[in-house]
Amino acid sequence: MFAGVAPRYDLANQILSLGLDRSWRKFVCRRVAAWKPSRILDLATGSGVLAEELARTNTGSFVVGADFCIPMLKVARKRDVEHLIVADGLALPFADASFDVITVAFGLRNMAFLERALAELARTTRSGGHVVILDFSLPSGPLLPAYRFYLHFVLPRLAGWLTGEPAAYQYLGDSIESFPRGTAMTALMEEAGFVNAIARPLSGGIVTAYLAERG
Ligand SMILES: C[S@@+](CC[C@H](N)C(=O)[O-])C[C@H]1O[C@@H](n2cnc3c(N)ncnc32)[C@H](O)[C@@H]1O
Repeated sequence: MFAGVAPRYDLANQILSLGLDRSWRKFVCRRVAAWKPSRILDLATGSGVLAEELARTNTGSFVVGADFCIPMLKVARKRDVEHLIVADGLALPFADASFDVITVAFGLRNMAFLERALAELARTTRSGGHVVILDFSLPSGPLLPAYRFYLHFVLPRLAGWLTGEPAAYQYLGDSIESFPRGTAMTALMEEAGFVNAIARPLSGGIVTAYLAERG
């Protein structure tokens, strides 16, 4: 599915999020920079847009982007991301405690086994290190019905037209509905071995950043 959308993935993101995707990534980069990490993994890096921004905002840090979709990594290769690796988030090819910070933007929701992916994040983050998971969620209150209409009816048509892959964007809405949100997600992170997990809604809750420390 991601191989199919890879060539027009970035353009579709910018249009469909009305440019808000930049502010979500900036939020992540600001938080990561405050931890002054030496080694950062951007898992499910896709076209490498977050990995590039992390490298830019964390000068001197070793930043690696990992993804299991080679066509996506080919797009990332055109960016300023020095280290890219083909890797499955469910079986990461890294030793325990390899990273000070791991970020996963819009990737965890797509992994076949959420608990297994969280266990791999916990295994490869050093004790006292941090994880940031950025993913879609649902806004609460009066915005919700309008947002659901956009998500399930407008977005698949618009994105299908932009990318030629309408099924991928029908899947997007369904996956957002079923992905754990808020405290359900922070509880799963803590079960996996993280502590002090918090959920920070962004853009009215359309997206949530989950931040936690490795215990
Ligand atoms: C929606 S894209 C997000 C890309 C990028 N992080 C961003 O913010 O634009 C989801 C990415 O997750 C990757 N992905 C899904 N399951 C994966 C897995 N098990 N291991 C590694 N990457 C995975 C896909 O290949 C895809 O590139």
